[in-house]
Amino acid sequence: MAPRFARWLASTNDVTQGFLAAGGLPGLINLGGGLPAPELYPVEDLAEIAARVIRDHPQDCLGYGPVAGLPALRSALAARFAAPDRPLAADNVLITASGLQALDLLGKVLIDEGAEVAVQTPTYLGALDAFRTRMPAYRAVRMDVPDLDPGPLMAGAAFAYTVPNYSNPTGAQVPLALRQGLVAAAVATGTWLIDDDPYGSLFYDAAPLPSLRAFAPPDAPVVQVGTVSKELAPGLRLGWVIGPVRLIRALTMAKQGSDLCTSGLSQRIYLAALEAGLDARVGQAARALYRTRRDALAAAMERHLGHVLTWAVPEGGMFIWARGAVDTDQLALLAREEGVGVSPSSVFDPFGQDRGGLRLNFTLNPPEKLDEAARRLARALARMRGDEDER
Ligand SMILES: Cc1ncc(COP(=O)(O)O)c(C=O)c1O
Repeated sequence: MAPRFARWLASTNDVTQGFLAAGGLPGLINLGGGLPAPELYPVEDLAEIAARVIRDHPQDCLGYGPVAGLPALRSALAARFAAPDRPLAADNVLITASGLQALDLLGKVLIDEGAEVAVQTPTYLGALDAFRTRMPAYRAVRMDVPDLDPGPLMAGAAFAYTVPNYSNPTGAQVPLALRQGLVAAAVATGTWLIDDDPYGSLFYDAAPLPSLRAFAPPDAPVVQVGTVSKELAPGLRLGWVIGPVRLIRALTMAKQGSDLCTSGLSQRIYLAALEAGLDARVGQAARALYRTRRDALAAAMERHLGHVLTWAVPEGGMFIWARGAVDTDQLALLAREEGVGVSPSSVFDPFGQDRGGLRLNFTLNPPEKLDEAARRLARALARMRGDEDER
């Protein structure tokens, strides 16, 4: 008999592996991932900080550390996210090896066999990947409806998951009234509410709406996930969870059985970067660069794709979400043949069924490449429509 694998592996896809590897494909313009512009990485500053923190804190950087993270960094993040009416202590913070690990650990401590999870739909592909090993059943929540009552969708679910600021994949914000409704429903139903916020600092028009925590009474089941990936450098692999102490303790148990502790070197580098205001400097530069690129991609789409696709220009984040009367699974394959990588909507649908949308990244490439990418996508679309005419 053939040796067996666990059942969850049967429902995976390798889309993420594809766009992370796409940089190595000659000539391909990669609009498929959510990758930062590498020219924004503060190389010299981080090199200086890395050398300094290894010398100054050799045990923190090179030894094993506490499972929940270095106390100094947990305190610094508690101070960063506290508000006068919402105090936070180090105990409310877990340091993780990325935002994605935070989601993996949340899945481990919150999803029991057969449990249901309410997810913003379309949703972040990595979250679906992270929860997949727990094999939850999904409830789809449309978060573009301000007067939606999320209570019935959240009642009895293990948790609700949302990316309220400039969502992945749509770039949209969850409206204010629905943010308040989600928190009220979490309190009323006792269902955990996860606010995953990697994009809040990438705003191009006005600052984002208040986070879900801003509406939550103390000890409400509201959780915020963050990462340094979009505000500094994803290679540091560093993220965090902010939540009630009982949740942080449960996550720490799961982390203990996962990787023992997050890289102390990355934690010390990030702490020193925070103290030096490096994240704020990179954030400012990113907003300026990405605003131009967002506008460049929108203009290129207007030129080459406006006759087939529709989209809204997002106020922040990394993506334009386009929709049209085309099978975007097929379009993504043809686009790749034409030399442009894009992500089809089916991978952001917890049920894998939506074939009418496309996620296009605008942060990685300069304007002339974005224009060429839109041109190639238009060629793929023309090929598809030609195929249809022939039938
Ligand atoms: C919505 C969302 N959450 C979490 C992450 C995870 O980022 P990282 O694992 O690099 O911290 C991403 C990355 O693209 C994301 O888009």
